[in-house]
Amino acid sequence: MIIIKLGGSIITDKTDYRKFNKDVVARLCKEIKESGQKVIIVHGAGSFGHIISKRFKLNEGYVDDAQIPAVAQVCYDTRDLSSMIIKELIDAGIPAISIPPGSAFYMEDRILRIEDESVIRMMVEKGLMPVMFGDVVQDKNLGFAICSGDQITELLAKMFDVERVIFVSDIDGLFDSDPKTDPNAELLSKIDKDTLSAVNTDISVDDVTGGVRGKIETMLDMCSKERDCILVNGMVEGRLLSLLKGEDVICTRAEGE
Ligand code: IPE
Repeated sequence: MIIIKLGGSIITDKTDYRKFNKDVVARLCKEIKESGQKVIIVHGAGSFGHIISKRFKLNEGYVDDAQIPAVAQVCYDTRDLSSMIIKELIDAGIPAISIPPGSAFYMEDRILRIEDESVIRMMVEKGLMPVMFGDVVQDKNLGFAICSGDQITELLAKMFDVERVIFVSDIDGLFDSDPKTDPNAELLSKIDKDTLSAVNTDISVDDVTGGVRGKIETMLDMCSKERDCILVNGMVEGRLLSLLKGEDVICTRAEGE
């Protein structure tokens, strides 16, 4: 089983509220189908989630009543985005069902927890693909909180026998410094614990909450002896398909020890 997280920067234009990258998503869905691999997809929220969440400080949890309509709006927008992605998956021949994370999970001080795994397991056993996404989720202590697609990916990777986690973004991988400002920036094709001390901590990547350091930490947390974790550029046609077919592609790979 492979988990693919489609980042918000690839499925949407992160600077333009509710701008869906339909053609890119349609192509990626076809690449996933063509690979023949057993896959679970998680997607980010992109401009369907981040813009309003930031404006109303939703990640601080409940602060005042002015946030409540914003919570509803974000949940409406992320479900809309998810439906558009499901349409592309179904058109590509993948029987996918959108599962809002708040219907399966809850949070406790921003830690994602699941009460009952059975519904998601039943779907997977039947050959249905549950698709979950970054969203606002009820938090027992904070009222509500942002649940990122990365957190969902991490939880699903623990639930299922996952041999590979792939983050699809609009960058070739992680660099040792910012490639936009440093012409000598080098792609880190492999990362491990020592990489963290070598990277310039200031680098930010649009798609990545917490910057490069955060992404490296997430990837290292998720990989194990049996599971590698890869960041790949989905804007390059065919690259995800090649990776899924086991070919060598430009990417950043975290391998467990
Ligand atoms: C963010 O989820 C969820 C909200 C802002 C509501 P992600 O962190 O997974 O989304 P992307 O991939 O950065 O867009």
